[in-house]
Amino acid sequence: MARLVLVGFMGAGKTTIGRLLAQETNLPLIDLDEKIVADNQQTIPEIFAAVGEVGFRRLETQALKAALNDDVVVATGGGVVTQAINRQLLQDTLAPIIYLKAPAPVLNQRVANDTNRPIAAKLDAAGFAELVASREAFYQEVSDLTLLTAEVTPETIVATIKAQV
Ligand code: S3P
Repeated sequence: MARLVLVGFMGAGKTTIGRLLAQETNLPLIDLDEKIVADNQQTIPEIFAAVGEVGFRRLETQALKAALNDDVVVATGGGVVTQAINRQLLQDTLAPIIYLKAPAPVLNQRVANDTNRPIAAKLDAAGFAELVASREAFYQEVSDLTLLTAEVTPETIVATIKAQV
């Protein structure tokens, strides 16, 4: 079973914090996006171009299922909670699920100009903020603890997680 799962919007710090947590706990990190890229030998934009978002979500569900069964730290992709099946998988796991949260403008600034995020790339600031808001209830629904990541160092967040789970 996974030891800990990180969820949150793009730019929330899931990968950075996941790496630090994995180092400190001596557990492997499975970053779902990185796993999908490695397994398919294609970048995220290439996968979206080839099989669309629907195809990407299928791969993401497979990767999530596998990761939740391993003794690892899991960093999910920001859209994982958009799929009911994934929310069910997350609710069924006994692993603590941490929601890394930041205000939409902060998230937008962190992922601005990133060509590796096809969903963010096609949104203006208003559309980005709308998408963030539309997912909030899903992150809350699946998570056990919410941590704000704006103006807090990744090291502080990791220390907080370790103290609380
Ligand atoms: C997505 C977030 C990305 C990646 C894909 C779709 C989303 O992950 O899975 O581009 O729908 O929010 P990150 O949150 O790691 O950027």
